[in-house]
Amino acid sequence: MKFVDVHNHTLLGVDDGPQSMAAAMEMVAHAYGEGVRQIILTPHYRPEIFPVRERALQERFQELRTAVGNSHPDLQLHLGHEAHFSHDLLDALDAGECKTLAGSRVVLLELPAFWNPQTMERFFFDGEARGYKFLIAHVERVEKLMQDSALMGDWLDRGVLFQVNASSITNGRPKAQRILRRLIMTGCIHVVATDAHSMGRRRPDMAQAYGLVERWAPGSGESLFYGNGLKIIENKQVEKREPCIGENHWFQRLKGVTKWNMNLKK
Ligand SMILES: [Fe+2]
Repeated sequence: MKFVDVHNHTLLGVDDGPQSMAAAMEMVAHAYGEGVRQIILTPHYRPEIFPVRERALQERFQELRTAVGNSHPDLQLHLGHEAHFSHDLLDALDAGECKTLAGSRVVLLELPAFWNPQTMERFFFDGEARGYKFLIAHVERVEKLMQDSALMGDWLDRGVLFQVNASSITNGRPKAQRILRRLIMTGCIHVVATDAHSMGRRRPDMAQAYGLVERWAPGSGESLFYGNGLKIIENKQVEKREPCIGENHWFQRLKGVTKWNMNLKK
């Protein structure tokens, strides 16, 4: 199986990713061994912590691209950002200072620790008017959404996309796995990615998570680990996912009563 990784910090020297070219190349080799054939490099866009240096970013990107071209010619690299939410973010995107994913209209959006739904509603509205689409980074870590399935449902309905980390699927914590399993089975997740930072902290692992997801929701791995990532790179529409469960499943029965009557905390 081939994979596309849309959330990855392998780019050297621009955020809290690898500290040397050797470490970056070790991550690349590992990702390649896992089956990854396209990576969108998404350093943090958070100017108050990681100063924005466009020239350095482009230079580092070209350096890594050249090295990868020599070692793994069929592994394609793209550039993007993991954009931390701020009130200036849309202007930074318009100015090209903050990057969408691989030049598409999709923004990988990291939510801050504290936010309120009205602010986000307004942000999505303004962002959509400017032509952007939002992919929420590692949604499994966004407690407010994990506790409020109705809110998550509203965001889904307006076309917001959700990404989860492969490591959260495989980390073996039963409660987290149960939530992720439910989210994936009910079609709430669009993309699985590594969010790899190093070979120690969140390695670029994909294959094991793919195996688990295929067990939970057979047939859904292709779009979650490959197809939807490719669509983002090609700036094509990522379709709404349908629940991968039978008509008699509890979720389908509940849907008849109310659309989002599921408690993710259970
Ligand atoms: Fe990240």
